[in-house]
Amino acid sequence: MGEIVEAKEAYNKVFNLIEEHQKWFDSSLPMIASENVTSYAVREALICDFEHRYAEGWVGERVYAGCKFIDQVEMIAMELAKEIYKAKHADVRPISGVVANLAVYTAFTKPGDVMMALPITKGGHISMGPLYGSKGTRIGGTAGAVHGLDVKYIAFNDDEMNIDVDKTIKRMEKYQPKLIMFGASEILFPQPIKEIADVAHSMGAVVNYDAAHLAGLIGAGRFQDPLREGADTMTMSTHKTLPGPQHGMIVTNDDEKFELIKEACFPGLLSNHHPGAVAALAVALAELKEFGKEYADQIIKNAKALAQAMYDSGLKVLGADKGFTECHQVLVDVADIGGGLWAEKALEEANIIVNRNLLPWDIKRGRNFRDPGGIRIGTLEITRLGMKEGEMEEIARFYKRVLLDKEDPKIVAKDVKKLRERFRHIHYCFESMKEAYKHLILR
Ligand SMILES: Cc1ncc(COP(=O)(O)O)c(C=O)c1O
Repeated sequence: MGEIVEAKEAYNKVFNLIEEHQKWFDSSLPMIASENVTSYAVREALICDFEHRYAEGWVGERVYAGCKFIDQVEMIAMELAKEIYKAKHADVRPISGVVANLAVYTAFTKPGDVMMALPITKGGHISMGPLYGSKGTRIGGTAGAVHGLDVKYIAFNDDEMNIDVDKTIKRMEKYQPKLIMFGASEILFPQPIKEIADVAHSMGAVVNYDAAHLAGLIGAGRFQDPLREGADTMTMSTHKTLPGPQHGMIVTNDDEKFELIKEACFPGLLSNHHPGAVAALAVALAELKEFGKEYADQIIKNAKALAQAMYDSGLKVLGADKGFTECHQVLVDVADIGGGLWAEKALEEANIIVNRNLLPWDIKRGRNFRDPGGIRIGTLEITRLGMKEGEMEEIARFYKRVLLDKEDPKIVAKDVKKLRERFRHIHYCFESMKEAYKHLILR
């Protein structure tokens, strides 16, 4: 138990800590691949009065009063989502990417059915995981623990850093899945949807693409296009390459499947779907429509430039023979130079925020998620701060100094701070030039 604190002291302390955090991020390089910073317009919508309200049900058919303006905003969010993802239907109510995935499980499967997805050790997300792993260890992933799915794995080719189509099809023939989940948390290249989706459909399975990480790049037309490549539905988080509020969304072109998704969302999984977040999502989608292509292009250029410069400096960057990456992620094998846990901590001391990550071969080599062999780096947030390829070379030098030269991270942090002083504002939105990490005070 912590110390007992007086109410006013606790109240003040919360705001002091928020301010400390923002000051820290203001002098750091935020490079976690699953995070981004929103525009002030998105923040303003997020904290409006909508966020105090309930709007249970579907637009125009709510089971709560007071929703006439909320309904109009939710319609705008749905219309923008449909246009951006070239989809006939959009449900913007899931309150996160995990809830969007759970809605798909609820809509299309029964407990005990087989679902196939990538294992967490090869990029899959915990929401796709089973209750127990192959050796009987409890994993507690959402698909198994919450919906009782029997999770079997999509095959992965470690050398290609992508799905192995032939082996996956063989496994599908053996396990007869009801649902195939594409997408991943650790991902460098577009996945082979078409061939696998054709087989899935021939056995009556539903195909979902989890675009949590790629939502912004896909919306901008700069990654693969899952709904045209064979996915029936696409689930998303709305706060990664799509820099919106922490929320979720599902799109599809299939009328019947959409009815099942709607029912899974409400009354199935959601009572409150956070109308303030829906308003913020509508704003983020409008920003994506206007600035998304330019932003996505720069994210990818930056990821490639950073990967190349890190590789040239002697770091083991994955995917070198394939141009390193086609999205916002860069993966580095740090097993021989201190391991993922050490690298994450050393970089954090240098004010470079990244996370340690399992590499596909880590488990075989006796590593685990506490101290994996890799780090996963994202260029989405630093791109939003206005950085371009030239800055990626500077940043690669910071990584080299910490990871290879073992320089004191505190000294590197001073240079990181100097770089950040040149990049203080948010770009790719209607009102740019606002300070990214300024503490907003409404009181
Ligand atoms: C592939 C994938 N799916 C789902 C999620 C979960 O999204 P959320 O945090 O919005 O629930 C993540 C989170 O990073 C993810 O990487």
